[in-house]
Amino acid sequence: MDKKELMATVETVFKRKFNHKPHLFFSPGRINFLGEHIDYNDGYVMPAAINNGICYAVSLNGTNQINIYSLDFDEMLTIRNADFQKREGWKNYVLSVLKEYEIAGKDISGFDCVFGGNIAGGAGISSSAAVEGGMAYAINALMEHGFNRKELALLCQRAEHNFPGVQCGIMDQYANMMGKKNQVVLLDCMEITHEYFPLQLEGFDIVLLNSNVHHSLASSEYNKRRSECEKGLDILKKGLNKTSFRQFQSSDAILPFKEEMGEKVYNRCRYVIDEIQRTQAGAQLLKLGDIEAFGKLMFATHEGLRDLYEVSCEELDFLVEEANKNEAVIGSRMMGGGFGGCTINIVRSEASEKLINDSSASYLSKFGRTPGVIRVSVEDGTAAIA
Ligand code: GLA
Repeated sequence: MDKKELMATVETVFKRKFNHKPHLFFSPGRINFLGEHIDYNDGYVMPAAINNGICYAVSLNGTNQINIYSLDFDEMLTIRNADFQKREGWKNYVLSVLKEYEIAGKDISGFDCVFGGNIAGGAGISSSAAVEGGMAYAINALMEHGFNRKELALLCQRAEHNFPGVQCGIMDQYANMMGKKNQVVLLDCMEITHEYFPLQLEGFDIVLLNSNVHHSLASSEYNKRRSECEKGLDILKKGLNKTSFRQFQSSDAILPFKEEMGEKVYNRCRYVIDEIQRTQAGAQLLKLGDIEAFGKLMFATHEGLRDLYEVSCEELDFLVEEANKNEAVIGSRMMGGGFGGCTINIVRSEASEKLINDSSASYLSKFGRTPGVIRVSVEDGTAAIA
């Protein structure tokens, strides 16, 4: 379903369920070109908001009751007297946002809401940040709480840490709020500042291939990676008087600490230092329009995520290997948290159909099912729809 149809459906369902007129909001998912798993490691990342996301229809109802209907799960959540407790599944993503408003000392009045998406969950394109961002933005607009976009991104990040329990970085929520049409967001995750630069991909398509694998260990392994990196950095802080992975020019500098760190932690830290360097180099290349060199960095990122950071899986590795065989693909890698989800591929436009057909056929013969195909365009962040 495209965005227009989605908006129309969500609005119709809202009117049927609640019998009044809603305000509409669209909250996008994100892609990320380079800089994976380094937003919580003082890195730079290069995300962009996309055409797929979550549509919200929301209206105040003048009561002390909140009614939130998830179109995708066909389930209603009713909350009375601002009782924001942790529950299960999708409910935690909206409840946690409401809880953060409460923690920030902001009143939440009664409202009716319907939301639904055209974004695959667990695909690594951050449906969770889209759910959080849309809810947070709508509440802020309708209840006039006065948060700016950066504050909303930080509120949503805290929300993700709280009920869903994923100790995520800031990338997804920031891209969701700050995305701009046809622009890449170069986000400095230490300073929480960003610059935009135009996406110069004329003649190329961005194609996501969804492995349709969603490992349940994704969130526990995510939090584990985070603590492994903290452990490694503690050792480097003591040994070298450095305070951040960003202060290293090359991962060779940490070799003397290999034994003390142990193989796993050492590999995690090596990846982080390499990826911070790669992202900085990649941003320059993308600004210069050297897409071919940029694409090579994406392949290198995949290798690091596979071998050092160990967040890939057989299916993702297969899709990247297949893409690598295709000369029209200039860059391919797993994207997002990992353990399943999508690969991002930059492919010459005239050959994108072939990539999709070839990958689908070989994936089918290897794994017995086809990958999902998502063609993305780069769009604005969360906004009200007139
Ligand atoms: C998830 C997290 C982000 C980021 C990515 C990996 O999407 O929510 O903060 O860490 O994984 O780059």
